[in-house]
Amino acid sequence: MSALPKVELHLHLEGAAPPSFIAGLAKEKNLDISGIFDARGQYRFTDFSHFLKVYEAATSALQTPEDYARLTRTVLEESAQSGVVYSETFLSPDFCGGREVGAWREYLHAMREAADQAERQMGITLRGIVTCIRHFGPEKARETALCAAETAGDWIVGFGIAGDERIGAPKDFRWAFDCAREAGLRLTAHAGEWGGPDSVRAAVRDLGVERIGHGVRAIEDLALVDELAEKGIVLEVCPGSNVALGLYRSFRDHPIHELDRRGVKVTVSTDDPPFFHTTMAREYEELHRALDWDEGQFRRIARQSLDAAFCDADTRARIG
Ligand code: ADE
Ligand code: ZN
Repeated sequence: MSALPKVELHLHLEGAAPPSFIAGLAKEKNLDISGIFDARGQYRFTDFSHFLKVYEAATSALQTPEDYARLTRTVLEESAQSGVVYSETFLSPDFCGGREVGAWREYLHAMREAADQAERQMGITLRGIVTCIRHFGPEKARETALCAAETAGDWIVGFGIAGDERIGAPKDFRWAFDCAREAGLRLTAHAGEWGGPDSVRAAVRDLGVERIGHGVRAIEDLALVDELAEKGIVLEVCPGSNVALGLYRSFRDHPIHELDRRGVKVTVSTDDPPFFHTTMAREYEELHRALDWDEGQFRRIARQSLDAAFCDADTRARIG
């Protein structure tokens, strides 16, 4: 499955940091975050709330633009090994630059340089989606949106929201999304992971997003499934993440196949691969094993993903 060309639309840069990478940085900085690792050095968490805490503790080891450059390189090497040719990655000024535009620009410059080098050497293209964090609240999201608007262009191509979907409501973040839209950014929001169909409806209605991160719980309301299909809303589905976090018992129980069958534009991504012991190649292998997806299906999904990418048409044409 590694040989098939893959397009990934939903990957959190910090969430893709291998635990050994984070442990190495923590050691360099004399930071004790040993509690986030298990005896084998893997990330250790019990549920989604705990996952978010472990995630934030891991990001505390990422302190400089140089750390982010090294992280970008490490993540792209792993993705390229899985056969990923295009990756759209969530970048969070909350973690790099602290939402201050000047500092954010320095982090961005470091990530972009590392990505450009990886593209020349490994043939993988990266683009960024600036992402606010829902449980940090609307005020911080405004500052994040201003960082996004200031740096919108051919490399920062989108704006999104991640974090705890159980806190607040999409309409609280309308200002941030309007600001990003006016700057020319394309929009996506995490929804329908820890919230049900109403959460997906609210993200589409109140934020005007064209893609939904996860969105899988739309399956609990078939009228909504039809609406998503009709409107052409794209779901960034991360089956391994959903199974690892206990949303579904197995790939076989996952609704991706049914959503696809009902005409929703589904795509496949990893979310936070080392946290969920996955890679893009592994997602494909599991989908093949559990749902009998074949090469034709995977090629169709990769095409659908590239069509839904936020990059410009020239970049898309060069990849596809
Ligand atoms: N941030 C990183 N991974 C996430 C997930 N699965 N849901 C919401 N926010 C996240
Ligand atoms: Zn996510």
